[in-house]
Amino acid sequence: MIMDPLLFLPGPTYVPHNVRIAQAKPLVGHRTKHFRSIYRETVDLLKDLMYTENDVFILTSSGTGAVEAMIVNIVNEGDKILVPVFGAFSERLCEIIRIFGGTPIPLRYEYGKGPTYEDVKEAIEKNDDLKAIAIVYNDTSPGVTVRDLPKIAEYSKNEGILVLVDAISIFGGDKLLVDEWKIDVLVAASQKCLASPPGLAFISVSNDAWNVIKSTKKRAYYFDLEKYRQFDRKNETPFTPAISLLYALNESIKTIMDIGYSEWIRNHEKRANIIYEELHKMGAEPFVEKDFRSNTIISFAPPKGIKPSYVVDIMASKYNVYLARGMGPLSEKIVRVGNMGYIGIREIRLLIELLSEVMGISKSR
Ligand SMILES: Cc1ncc(COP(=O)(O)O)c(C=O)c1O
Repeated sequence: MIMDPLLFLPGPTYVPHNVRIAQAKPLVGHRTKHFRSIYRETVDLLKDLMYTENDVFILTSSGTGAVEAMIVNIVNEGDKILVPVFGAFSERLCEIIRIFGGTPIPLRYEYGKGPTYEDVKEAIEKNDDLKAIAIVYNDTSPGVTVRDLPKIAEYSKNEGILVLVDAISIFGGDKLLVDEWKIDVLVAASQKCLASPPGLAFISVSNDAWNVIKSTKKRAYYFDLEKYRQFDRKNETPFTPAISLLYALNESIKTIMDIGYSEWIRNHEKRANIIYEELHKMGAEPFVEKDFRSNTIISFAPPKGIKPSYVVDIMASKYNVYLARGMGPLSEKIVRVGNMGYIGIREIRLLIELLSEVMGISKSR
């Protein structure tokens, strides 16, 4: 392969050159002054991006590790957790809660729709002994964003219910204010909208969450968050961190800050608008209802008679451009375009041109 592949995947996403080469810096010991300074700086940068004063930890794992850490540290045997289910990743949340002995209370939606404030409020009213709500802010499998998250979180907190959020495929690509929205635990990962290589996950923990964690039965060793807090106070991690990935993450966040974080987020929205508009012109309709459409994952059904697998396969084999099919029951229903991270208008224009060619759309439309 001579040319770099063009990634429009739901992760991993394109990693800019300066971020890739940051990984080649010489390794240092993780109990040294040098490490401590890069660790502190990177955690503080993550806090800035999350708009939080809460503790934030960097885990050496993909996003699922942080989801598991969130659940194992919060959920005791028999705890009832409300989970709006509207895609594969919210299904997974239920599965992880079950594995750790909790009882997920699913609030189910047809794929393509998502939870509203009114639905969640009603579900909370009906279930009086909920410990938490666990919610995926942006379920990557249908491409659904929960726009009511701030209202949902505020209501839940007022009811004394912890708010646990999987923001893996949206952190860095859309609005997310951890403290203002009163999110107790937030999980995210490196390989999505931050344009960094895969391998790191992030977790923020509020004071209310710490009060609960104190009384949760210990069943994790590697993901015991109290250990991370203890080591964080020395600017260290409890176990050997992925130092090279930390260099890359540090570089990628600084690149985002140079561009301007608001600008970076706005670019995701601008690109999403262009893609939705152009797909509409091609007769490829968005899969998700308007109010729930994601800016970071654009899912669409190709025009009649064209299979998603055909579109994805031809884009990859002929043009070295990578898109994704739907997951599970959506695999032959939709194509997903990852609109995350460092993508220019040039790449968007190329994507549109190639998609219209592959789907056989005539220029005269
Ligand atoms: C919303 C969401 N949650 C969890 C995950 C799992 O993350 P990972 O594959 O990094 O473990 C993903 C991955 O795409 C995701 O999009």
